[in-house]
Amino acid sequence: MAIAKRPSTEMRERRFEYAAAPEATDHLKIADSYSLFIGGRFVEPHSRRRFATVNPATGQTLSEVAEADDADVDRAVTAAADAFRSWSRLSGAKRARHIFRLSRLMQERARELAVLETMDGGKPIKESRDVDVPLAAAHFFYYAGWADKLEWAFPNRRPRPLGVAGQVIPWNFPLLMLAWKIAPALAAGNTVVLKPAETTPLSALAFADICQQADLPPGVVNILTGAGSTGASLVGHPDVRKVAFTGSTEVGKEIQRATAGSGKHLTLELGGKAANIVFEDAPLDQAIEGIVNGIYFNQGHVCCAGSRLLVQESILEPLLAKLKSRLGTLRVGDPLDKNTDVGAINSRAQLEKIEGLVNSGIEEGAEIYQPACDLPERGYWFRPTIFTNVAQSYRIAREEIFGPVLSVLTFRTPDEAVEKANNTPYGLSAGVWTDKGSRILWLAERMRAGVVWANTFNRFDPTSPFGGYKESGFGREGGLHGLAAYVELD
Ligand code: NAI
Ligand code: MG
Repeated sequence: MAIAKRPSTEMRERRFEYAAAPEATDHLKIADSYSLFIGGRFVEPHSRRRFATVNPATGQTLSEVAEADDADVDRAVTAAADAFRSWSRLSGAKRARHIFRLSRLMQERARELAVLETMDGGKPIKESRDVDVPLAAAHFFYYAGWADKLEWAFPNRRPRPLGVAGQVIPWNFPLLMLAWKIAPALAAGNTVVLKPAETTPLSALAFADICQQADLPPGVVNILTGAGSTGASLVGHPDVRKVAFTGSTEVGKEIQRATAGSGKHLTLELGGKAANIVFEDAPLDQAIEGIVNGIYFNQGHVCCAGSRLLVQESILEPLLAKLKSRLGTLRVGDPLDKNTDVGAINSRAQLEKIEGLVNSGIEEGAEIYQPACDLPERGYWFRPTIFTNVAQSYRIAREEIFGPVLSVLTFRTPDEAVEKANNTPYGLSAGVWTDKGSRILWLAERMRAGVVWANTFNRFDPTSPFGGYKESGFGREGGLHGLAAYVELD
C-alpha cells in the first residue's frame, strides 16, 4: 500500500471546503436487470447468465446485466447482417436523419446519461456532464453530416460500407467510446454489434433504449453485454467484416493475432505513456493547469494521459512547488458532487494495479508526494500522486498506470526532451508547453505520437483524428480519417 505523507500545515490552511452539491439521481431509473439488445429488442441471453455492475464510489450493485455467449453473439451478428442489406442501401440523407435523431435524443437525455455514467464508472459528474455526454452527441452530429456526402469525403472514389462491424470498448469513457465507434460506422452504411466493458455497461444499454426511441431500424445497432470472452467471440465471428477495439495493448495484440489472415478490417486504439513537456519559457500557471488536466482528469484513466512530465531542469523547483500546491486544492470524493475533481477508481482490479505500480515506484527509489485529503470509507479511491526522482528505467516511467499518478523527469536541451519523450513503446499523444511557436513545430515534427497538443492537453473534437503509433495501435478515429476506417474504396 502506498502511504500518504503527512500534509504540511501550509497546505492544510490553503484548502477550504465547499458545501456538498450533489447531483440528483431521482430522475434516473436503473432496472434491477438488463437483457441483450438484439434486432431492435431487449432479449433474454441464451446463456441465462447475468453479472453485477457496481458503483465504484460505494461498492453497491446497481444492476445485473446479461452475459452474452457464442449463441448470443451469433444472433446479434445475424441481426446486424440482415439489417445491413437495407441500411446500406438507404440514401445517405435518410441515414443522416436517423443519426441526427440519435444525437438529438442524447442531448435531450443528457442529464440522465451523465448521472448514469458517473454512477456506473466513478467519474466526476462535472466531467460526464461537460465532456463525455456533449462530446458523444457531437460525434453523432458530426458523422451524420457526412452520411450524404461520402462522395465528397472521398473524391473520385466509390466508397462502399464494409458490412457488420464488431466493436469492443473500454470502461474509461463508455458513452464517448461508443460514439466514436458507432457514429462513423452508421454514417458510412455499416451495421454494428457493440460490446461495452463489464464494469460500465449501463450507458450503452441506455443508448440501446435511445435507438428504440429514435425508431432506428432493428438490427442496425446491437448491444451485447459480457466480459472478455464475449468480446473474443464477437471479434472471431466469421460474418464480422470490421473489428474496432479500444482497450489494453495486451488484448489488442490478442485481437490482432485472432483476426490475422481473416480479411477483416481492423483498427486498434491501445494504451499510452504520453510525455507532457514543459520548457523554461512556458507560461507556468497555464502549464500547471494543463499538467493537472493531463493526468488527474478522469482519475488518470485516460489512454492519452500526460503521465510522464518532462520539465526543463532550470524550472523544476518553481514548477514542483506550484504543482504541489495546486494538488492540495483538488477535491477527491463523491463523483456525484458537482465540486469533485477526482472521483472513484473504476474497479477494485484497477485500484490494485495502480497500487502495485505505485509500490514498485517507491521500491525502485522514486520519491512520492500525495496531498492531504480524506478518502471516503467505502468504494475505490486513490489520492492524486506525484513521483519525483524518477529514472527512465523505472516501471512507473515505462508502464501505463492508468491512474492519478504522475512521474516527473527532467531534461536540459530540446534534443534531450525529444529523445526521452520518444523513449517508450507507446506513441499515442504528447504535450508541449512553450512560448515559442517555432519550437512547437520543431518538436511536433519529431514526436512519435498520433496527437501533439501545444499549450493545452486532452482537447478533443469530432473533426480531429485520434490514434497511435507503435504499441498504441493503428488506425484513426474522428474526422475524415475515422470515416475512412469504415469504407472500402474502389
Ligand atoms: P481490457 O483490454 O481487458 O478491456 C477492454 C475491453 O476489451 C473490455 O470490453 C473487455 O471486456 C474486452 N476484452 C477483454 N479481453 C478480450 C478479448 N480477448 N477479446 C476481445 N475483447 C476482450 O482492459 P482492462 O483489463 O479493463 O484494463 C487493463 C489495462 O488496460 C488498464 O489498466 C489500462 O492500462 C489499459 N486500458 C487501456 C485503455 C485505453 O483506452 N487505451 C482502456 C482500458 C484499459
Ligand atoms: Mg459499474
